[in-house]
Order: sequence, then C-alpha cells, then structure tokens
Amino acid sequence: MAEQAGDPLFHSHDPIFNRKELLHVGHVPDEDRIVGRDDEIESVAAEVGAITRGDPPNNVMIYGKTGTGKSLISRHVATRAQNAARGNDIDCGVLYVDCSEANTETRTTRQLALSLKDQTGYQEGIPVRGVGTMEYYQHIWQILEECFDAIIVILDEIDKLDNSNILMQLSRAREAQKTDAYIGVIGISNKVKYRETLDERIDSSFGHRELFFHPYDASQLREIMRNREDAFQPDVLEGGTIELCAALAAKKHGDARKAIEILKEAGELARRTGSETVSESHIQQAQEVAEINRIEELTSGATVHAKLALYALASRIITGDRETHKTREIYERYVSICDLVATDPITENGLYRQLKEQAFLGVIESEKTGGGRSQGSYLLHRLVTDPKHIIKAVRRDSSLEDLPTYDRLGDSASATAERDAELSSFS
Ligand SMILES: Nc1ncnc2c1ncn2[C@@H]1O[C@H](COP(=O)(O)OP(=O)(O)OP(=O)(O)O)[C@@H](O)[C@H]1O
Ligand SMILES: [Mg+2]
Repeated sequence: MAEQAGDPLFHSHDPIFNRKELLHVGHVPDEDRIVGRDDEIESVAAEVGAITRGDPPNNVMIYGKTGTGKSLISRHVATRAQNAARGNDIDCGVLYVDCSEANTETRTTRQLALSLKDQTGYQEGIPVRGVGTMEYYQHIWQILEECFDAIIVILDEIDKLDNSNILMQLSRAREAQKTDAYIGVIGISNKVKYRETLDERIDSSFGHRELFFHPYDASQLREIMRNREDAFQPDVLEGGTIELCAALAAKKHGDARKAIEILKEAGELARRTGSETVSESHIQQAQEVAEINRIEELTSGATVHAKLALYALASRIITGDRETHKTREIYERYVSICDLVATDPITENGLYRQLKEQAFLGVIESEKTGGGRSQGSYLLHRLVTDPKHIIKAVRRDSSLEDLPTYDRLGDSASATAERDAELSSFS
C-alpha cells in the first residue's frame, strides 16, 4: 500500500499501525473488503433487484445477531442496485435511517424528507420542528414524484421504532397514488422476536420476505480480518494471531465488529508496551478487555443489587469448587458482600428476580434441578463467562470499586465464608 498523503507528523512513525482507520468501529469497508457474505448479498439483491430493471421490488426484513453484517450488506447491496439502475437510465435513490436514533414516525419521516432534499435540488423548505408526520410524508411523495423512478429505504434497527405505520405508508404509496416511484424497504433488526410484533401490527400490504444472517464462523472471521491486515505495518502481526482472534470470536459470539475491535486493541496493547510485534498473548489480553467491556455494557442498566449478586456468584465460583450455585448460596454471599460496601441487602426473593433478569441479559444461565424427593426443585445458576471478568466489570462501577479484586478474593473469602456459614445456621 502506498504511503498516505498528509502531515508526516501524524502518519509516518506508528511502528504498529499502518492504516488504523480500517479497524475503527464506524469504518465502512470498501466493497472488496467485504467477504464471507456472498449468499446473503445475493439474497438481498434478489429481493430489491427488480428496481434495476424498472420493476417493483420486494420488501425484505433482515434478522440476525449483532455484528453479522446486516447494516453493511444492506447498504452495500442498495448502493450497487442504485448504480446498476443508473446504467439502465433509472433514477434510484437510497435512503438510510437508523431508527435507534430516529425512533418515532415523525423523526423517521423527517429524516427521510431531509435526506431526499439533500440528494436533489428540491426547492421547498422542510421545517425541522413544529410540523407533524403528514407534512413530512407530503414532502417525501413530492420529491419522489419529481426526481425518482424508484427508491430503496433502509430502516435499520427497526424494532426501536415506536410504531410500524411507516411500513404501511411506504408500501401503500403507489396504490394510494401518492407517487409513481417504486419503493423497496429493507428493514433490519437484531431481535428475532420483532417478527411476532410485526405480524400483529402490519397487514398484508407490507408483503415481505425474511432473511436470517447467522453469526460468522472462524474461517469467515479470519477472512474478514485478513482483508484488513494492511491496517498494520508489514510483519507486525505475528503468525497465528488472526487465527487465534477469529477462533476466540467465533467461539464467543461470531460478531465481526467485536473481532475487529479485539485485533485493534491487541495492536494498541503492543504499542503501549513498546512491543515491535503483535503476539498471541496480546490477542488473549485484548480479548479479556473486550469481554469485560461487554459485561459492563450488558450490566450497565442493572441495579447495584444485580451487580452485587453477579459478584457474589463469581466470588463463590472462584473460592469454591463448583461452577453452579443455588439462589440461597448466592444470596448468603451477597449479604456478606453488602456488608463490605455498606449497602442494605434486599430480600432473597428480590435477589432471585435480579438473577432472573441477568439470565435474560445473557450473563448467567439458570437451570431448574430436582433436589431429590424430599427437597423439591431449585434453580442452579452459572456464569456464562469467566468469573474474573465479572469481578472486574462490577468493580468498574464507582460505588463498588472497594470490593476485593480477583486476586484478593482468596483473603476475604475465608471471612465471607464464615459469614455465610453463620447465616446458614439461622435458616
Ligand atoms: N462480511 C464482512 N466483511 C467485512 N467486514 C465485515 C463483514 N461483516 C461485518 N463486517 C464488519 O463488522 C462491522 C459490523 O457489521 P454490521 O454493522 O453490518 O453489523 P450488524 O449486523 O448491522 O450489527 P448490529 O445488529 O449490531 O447493528 C462492519 O462495520 C464491518 O466493519
Ligand atoms: Mg447494524
């Protein structure tokens, strides 16, 4: 890769990175760096592709877990369709709305109207506030009428929209003689459950296909990262690093975004520690940091008690010899820990509800077990991640930073174990 133009002060002396921007979170890779999604690209193209021939497209909903390429592939196919249409003298626009930000019909239609205005020479002013959805629709229909034969509308994170009326409006626009332009909608969601709510809320007018994007496997992740190897200086990535990063990410989540983040973090770690190369051990450490961040993110909305419950479970696993623990056992440890941070404990039943919520977030797994004839059944909880990561993530909460660190847990364990025993003797 040729040296980038620009101020040498900022470009020339990074010993680790060559084109670090290739690893940035918001970076949208070029077409030739998209790999491992050929089938999905073809499937999306098959749904919207009729537009390029001047025919009506299908609407499509794309489902899949985070980091599986849904947004990327949708934009990629839409842009290619636009270019192909242009080749056939068809004016096709592409509109993209992130519904996690534009989460009401008014916000979404406003954004659609404004970006249509941006893309055309539309003269009329579009007010940004003080007007309702209907006025934005009117601008949309008018611009479509004046400037486009067809349009592809990508509604990303569509489950965040407070209602799905827009799907109806867009799919009925021709029928209702609002515009002659063909409209193809690509809806994207990482909540498969959204399907159920969608079916209830919209009628057959949004007749649509459904596509499912699966998590990436190790070989696809390897390809994705290899295609960005030039983010690093030549020979900086040691042999086996990309393979390891791909294997770890595939095992945990199959999320391309996270895999790339780990690779970048490993590079930063190497640079910070003055290493000339990025090694497997950098990848391991970066993966840990990423996992702690992920847990912190997952639990960011949780109460202090939920965090203490997670800490209690993690601490029992570390200081004990079992992976799974009963609600009662976690509760006992939790009560001792509340003492350490001068917090009043909630009831056991309250804690049980907190644990259930954590199970929902995917931090723990709970399983019902028969305790033998006389004992009835009870729940056993386990962590889905390394307890060390939980300890670190919980301690990042500034009100909980006084809790013992992972390596000091052994010292305090004997004290808390005594306390647990004391509590048990009361029950
Ligand atoms: N097939 C691929 N080839 C190259 N890079 C990819 C591929 N898939 C994903 N990526 C990288 O991972 C990032 C995340 O992908 P994308 O934003 O499309 O995921 P998503 O499925 O929309 O996730 P979310 O549900 O979190 O929005 C992209 O910006 C891109 O950098
Ligand atoms: Mg996305």
